[in-house]
Amino acid sequence: MTKAVPALEAKLPQLKTPLPGPEARRIVKLDERYISPSYTRPYPLVARRGRGAVVEDVDGNLFLDFSAGIAVVATGHCHPEVVQAVQQQAAELLHMSGTDFYYENMITLAQKLEAITPGDFPKRVFYGNSGAEAIECALKLARYATGRKNFIAFQGCFHGRTYGALSLTASKSVQRERFGPFLSGVLHAPYAYPYRCPVGAPPEKCAQACLNFLENVLLKTVSAPEEVAAIIVEPIQGEGGYVVPPDEFLQGLERLCRRHGMLLVMDEVQTGMGRTGRWWACQHPGVTPDILCIAKGIASGLPLGACVARADLMSWPPGAHASTFGGNPVSVAAALTTIRLIEDGLMENARRLGDTILGKLADWPRRHRLVGEVRGRGLMIGLELVRDKKTKEPAREEAKALVEGAFHRGLLLLTCGASTVRLVPPLVIDAEQADCALALLEEALAEIENR
Ligand SMILES: Cc1ncc(COP(=O)(O)O)c(C=O)c1O
Repeated sequence: MTKAVPALEAKLPQLKTPLPGPEARRIVKLDERYISPSYTRPYPLVARRGRGAVVEDVDGNLFLDFSAGIAVVATGHCHPEVVQAVQQQAAELLHMSGTDFYYENMITLAQKLEAITPGDFPKRVFYGNSGAEAIECALKLARYATGRKNFIAFQGCFHGRTYGALSLTASKSVQRERFGPFLSGVLHAPYAYPYRCPVGAPPEKCAQACLNFLENVLLKTVSAPEEVAAIIVEPIQGEGGYVVPPDEFLQGLERLCRRHGMLLVMDEVQTGMGRTGRWWACQHPGVTPDILCIAKGIASGLPLGACVARADLMSWPPGAHASTFGGNPVSVAAALTTIRLIEDGLMENARRLGDTILGKLADWPRRHRLVGEVRGRGLMIGLELVRDKKTKEPAREEAKALVEGAFHRGLLLLTCGASTVRLVPPLVIDAEQADCALALLEEALAEIENR
């Protein structure tokens, strides 16, 4: 008989063994033997269970999770209402395949998505299982609907690992190395990154300079706009380094799309579902995409991706596109509860605590030798580390050491871009947890700075 395990009620970290503990060490060793080494584990966290923003490892150590399973567990780990919805649905119908049969909760979720996504027009939804699948759908639909073959993506962007999504992705070369040739017709344009403007403009002119390069160089020399099916863009670059572009950048892209009949595809896989304090990050600059890609936080951890498109665009015939598991009834039930919880306060919490955290971090670039820039929206916050504030040489090793140092203090973090540390907690965190995370982060940072 298994021993009864006490409920996981702690809110703050509590370390009981040296890390990694004995059970964690055993499992990591087995993992090395059996699991693909392509995964990028930054430290040996072996999870056993989670509740809210706390994860317990297999040795009984408690961690404060500021990674949210890569921005997925929006409502926290195992939110009781999500668990209940999943259990109820699992007992009713696990699978039927919405590609060949009907079930109602798929439609209920589509109605909800139509209502909460930007644009006051009818929409249709295609369901897959992941962010990459939502992107694949957008690519195929854009070609199908426009009859055009080219795509514009951005330097630094990440859209997934399947071939279509990977052909867009230009975040880290290791993600593409030895995998080519890729989908033809993808052009990469500079993404407005004022801290390091890719076309060398000063920060206040970066957005316009990047737009000019796209319009006056790429669309004049590489592909005429009439051959471009869509611009695919993250409203804040996620894996590329939590890069927040000036509002005018996304507004300029929208104008360019409207002028040339190109579709605007917004990849909100990481930024969406209330994380930035609004449903979608593209709502901050007031931009309305033709196609919106959603995954990660949509179902609080169950696999689900959605491609939401203008209904007139998504008018392809039966058989054109489908996915056996897409829109699985259990994932959809989790998504409906997730949306309700986000509406009922979590989005507001993300906005409020995000502002508080950003406020507290505002003077870190002045106070900390390694912090080049702090940026973000809501609970999507990045600290870019540099070795030298003038040359802005990325502090890659230091960023890695910082997340390791945080782990050894009971705080789970991830890096992104060359040397950015991201704070991407579940939207359920409270002020005490935010303060605790900042204190542990600062302690780990000071240790590295004093080395
Ligand atoms: C912006 C963005 N798009 C797409 C993806 C791919 O999502 P998935 O890993 O679910 O395929 C990711 C994953 O990190 C992402 O951040």
